[in-house]
Amino acid sequence: MAKFVVGRANDIPPGTKCQATVDGRAIAIFNVDGRFYALRDVCPHRGARLSEGTVVGSLTACAAGAYDYDEARMFVKCPWHGWEFELETGQSWCEPARERVRPYRVTVESGQELIEAPADSPARVPGPYVAETLSVSVEDDYVVIES
Ligand code: FES
Repeated sequence: MAKFVVGRANDIPPGTKCQATVDGRAIAIFNVDGRFYALRDVCPHRGARLSEGTVVGSLTACAAGAYDYDEARMFVKCPWHGWEFELETGQSWCEPARERVRPYRVTVESGQELIEAPADSPARVPGPYVAETLSVSVEDDYVVIES
């Protein structure tokens, strides 16, 4: 699974969303109270960009006049016809048996974590020479999508 850095975490503050291109695909990224979600940015109904949709919580009614609003279960409402997709799973709740938007795993990693070398590959053997190295540090946190 490849990782793609899509931007600085501070550039997508809580309550905002954006679009990024990852591996040739448009991805909608949402920051809901500091938690990041990512979905393919194409509505399966008619192709609207979900990154232009509205993020809403789950609203259910167990009886007339009695509503339950669940802020922990978040959805994006498509800007064209209002289909709703759960941010965590990409599941549609208009046509739950048929439609789903691909969700992507999102993490926030420090710049230092991103520049650290991966574990040595067993296919590599150290050569006889060593180049001079300099210490490098990277500040800030970055949003990373796995695809
Ligand atoms: S294009 Fe998204 S609901 Fe129609």
